[in-house]
Parts: sequence; structure tokens; C-alpha cells
Amino acid sequence: MNNMTLTNVNSPIKLNNGVEIPCVGYGTFRTDPAVTAQAVQDAIAAGYRHIDTAKVYENEVGVGQGIKAAGVPREELFVTSKLWNTDRGYEATKAAFQASLDRLGLDYLDLYLIHWPANEKQFGADAAKINAETWRAMEELYEAGKIRAIGLSNFMPHHVAELLKTAKIKPMVDQIEVHPGWTHAEEIKKLQAMDIVVEAWGPLGGQGATVLVDPTMQKIAATHGKSTAQVSLRWILQQGVVPLPKSVHVDRLKQNMELFDFELSNEEMQTIAALPNLGGQCKDPDDVDF
Ligand SMILES: NC(=O)c1ccc[n+]([C@@H]2O[C@H](COP(=O)([O-])OP(=O)(O)OC[C@H]3O[C@@H](n4cnc5c(N)ncnc54)[C@H](OP(=O)(O)O)[C@@H]3O)[C@@H](O)[C@H]2O)c1
Repeated sequence: MNNMTLTNVNSPIKLNNGVEIPCVGYGTFRTDPAVTAQAVQDAIAAGYRHIDTAKVYENEVGVGQGIKAAGVPREELFVTSKLWNTDRGYEATKAAFQASLDRLGLDYLDLYLIHWPANEKQFGADAAKINAETWRAMEELYEAGKIRAIGLSNFMPHHVAELLKTAKIKPMVDQIEVHPGWTHAEEIKKLQAMDIVVEAWGPLGGQGATVLVDPTMQKIAATHGKSTAQVSLRWILQQGVVPLPKSVHVDRLKQNMELFDFELSNEEMQTIAALPNLGGQCKDPDDVDF
């Protein structure tokens, strides 16, 4: 991705099937269902066109209401949801997709992701087969025109390589945790080399991390007259990765869009990449038991 072409949160990045994704998305994890409709409406009014939700956030209904209330033509929006772990497998995936669509009140999705890979810790030798069968259903939904792009989340390059042994269609996106202190630098390079666009979840470290109050981050932010949140998001964008910042506050969600009037130097990029662990979820997808 050529960062010079990115001028605002909706600057397009081309996926490997030609579909364009806005380079910054609006996250909705832990957004209370009671405030989701308003938050999403506010985000769209502020200018976001790319919205990221998931079945497990239990706020797809609110996301759909916010989209309707915003009154922006559907084709101008890029809406992502995700298949939860209890819905893996061929038949269950198809049913779960339709249920997400119904909750959102939409008739297609722009992007649908497998939220987490089935891992060997939980499924032993069946893990790869479960992921393959789930992907087969995703491929059919894509081919039927119900989803404009399909992808993965929390799949490390070795999970992707395993999936590619049986996949007919290469995933277009992989959404993984990326923020200062949890860089996944090698994984990003490998996924991008496979022509898969990487999205960064928890781009500010999520709840409870110290990314935004880290002294090194504060110093770099002061140099540019920006906030630490903006520095974190810019650091992600400059790696060719799509950040998905979440905020239910209008001032913050607007601040998180103002990323295109400054540039981090190579030295600043490396300094941030070298920060120690600053918290976040930092889970190993091969070790989770959900
Ligand atoms: N695929 C996955 O497994 C996965 C996992 C986690 C998240 N995600 C996706 O990625 C999105 C982002 O991740 P996340 O929500 O965990 O974390 P995040 O976007 O890194 O951080 C959100 C936190 O930072 C606060 N915040 C936002 N903007 C701020 C600013 N400018 N200054 C100070 N604080 C600010 C928010 O609080 P307020 O809302 O109170 O402003 C919230 O507590 C999610 O919403 C979801 O869509 C995906």
C-alpha cells in the first residue's frame, strides 16, 4: 500500500479481489448495545464509512439501527461482521451469517470474517478440518453474492497456510491484534506477502492498556502536536495496516480520524515498534479456550 495516496479515513485500499476497503474502520467491541445505534450514527455523521462489528459483541441490531438512522446510501458503507466460535462448520456458518444479516437489517455484507481459528488445543487433529469446512461455507456465500469480501481474524500465518491447502478462494483480509507493544511485525509481513490486507484490532491497546499514556508515545505525540491515540493509529497506517479504533465519544471518534496531516519518521516508526509490552489482550490464538 502506498501511504502517500491515503488522505482520509475513507481512502481506499484494494483487496485481492478488487473490492476497495476504507483505510480506517470504526470499531464496536464493548460498545453497549443500548448506545450502539447512537454511536454508529455519530461515527457515520463524522465521516466513517467502514464499520466493524461481530455477532459476539451483541450489538449488531444497534449497528443496523445506526446505519439506517445515518441515512447514508448503503453502497457508500463498508460493513464487516464476524462468525463466532460456536458457529463453526459448514451448515452452522451459513445459518449464523444469515442471522447476522437479519440482526443488522442488511441484505449483504461487505466483509465477513471467521472470528478465531479452531485450534488444536481444543479440537486436536480436527482443527484444520473445522476451519476448512467453515471456509467452504464462506466461499459459497461469497460466490452467491451475499458478501463482497471474505476473510479471517486471529489467524496467524501458519493457520492461513493450512487453510490455503483446501481453500478455493484466498482470504482477502486478516484482522489481528496490533498496537504499540504488540506489533505482530513478522506476521504482518507474511500476510501482506500473501496479498492479504491486515486489519489491526485494539489499535489503541484496547481497554486497560498503557499505550496511550506511555512516555515514549507522549514524547513522539508532542513532537507532532498530536495525541498518543493518533500516533498509534498513524504508526499502524504507515505499515499498510487498516486500524479499527473504537470510541463512543464524538470528540474521540473525530480525533481518531485526523491522521493524515502528519507523518512518522522511520526512526519514530522503529522506536514505537521496539516498545515493550504495554498491555492489551495479547492472546495466542493457539492457546485460547473459547
Ligand atoms: N477480531 C477480534 O478478535 C477483535 C478483538 C477486539 C476488537 N476487535 C475490533 O477492533 C476494534 C478496536 O479494538 P478495541 O475496541 O478493543 O480497542 P481500541 O480501539 O484499541 O481502544 C478502545 C478504547 O480506547 C478508548 N479511546 C478511543 N479513542 C480514544 C482517544 N482518542 N483517546 C483516548 N482514549 C480513546 C475507548 O474509550 P471510549 O469508547 O470510552 O472513548 C476504548 O476504551 C473493536 O471495537 C472491534 O471492532 C476485534
